[in-house]
Amino acid sequence: MTTRPLIFAANWKMNHGPAEARAFAEKFLSLTASVEGRRLWFFPPAISLAALSQALQSRSDTLVGAQNIHWEPKGAFTGEISIPMVTEVGARAVLAGHSERRQLFGETDEQVARKTRNALAAGVTPLVCVGETLTERESGRTEQVIVRQMGTVIQALAAADWGRVVLAYEPVWAIGTGKNATPDDAAQIHELIRMELTRHGVSARVPILYGGSVNGGNVASLLSRPQLDGVLVGGASLEPDKWAEVIDKGSRAKVRPSGGYDLVEG
Ligand code: 13P
Repeated sequence: MTTRPLIFAANWKMNHGPAEARAFAEKFLSLTASVEGRRLWFFPPAISLAALSQALQSRSDTLVGAQNIHWEPKGAFTGEISIPMVTEVGARAVLAGHSERRQLFGETDEQVARKTRNALAAGVTPLVCVGETLTERESGRTEQVIVRQMGTVIQALAAADWGRVVLAYEPVWAIGTGKNATPDDAAQIHELIRMELTRHGVSARVPILYGGSVNGGNVASLLSRPQLDGVLVGGASLEPDKWAEVIDKGSRAKVRPSGGYDLVEG
């Protein structure tokens, strides 16, 4: 039997330069052992990719990815970095469509789809984020927003690509606010996402992570829901001991069959 891996993904946002990333890795590795079927992903700032991927290279259960990339491989795009550039320094995954990119930097659904498609073409695993704002939720448009955000990505990819894609549901109102979605809220939207994938005939094997104010206190109740395949964490991933605690408590809550994990990582 094959199954989806359990993924703990740390999004450091604009925190931890190369020296801090190295120090984090040294402490973190002493706190967390490798476990079969469990993947530990890190999205440091681009400037720290090389340092972190080098510092984690002894651990095959870890993966380092970029928080953002431009879809073109090179060219006159001041301030941007490309997929070949981040892979050269160790990135094997990229975030696409994080709500901070969508909201603060005007990233559109079409750009998210292009980044996702080109990451896959370059052999890099995309972690595509979807989620509604508070206004959208309060006006009853959550489902419509998620379906729209997924739709452009679904259109841009071939069915076979989905064995290499990971999705994250991150309700914007729960990010960095201390308000996490309840396990019921999260499970309900994860089911909607899974149904959307199935409706389009794409793999039901796609891992779906939850993100938004996840911490050591709520990770167990969230991950005890079978609809959640992991978590994408900002604030609580910034200190090695706190992040190790989230991973430990979350892993205990999730009983997984062993062997045969499906996801093909970049
Ligand atoms: P917080 O865990 O800080 O709410 O951030 C969530 C997030 O945006 C991860 O990508």
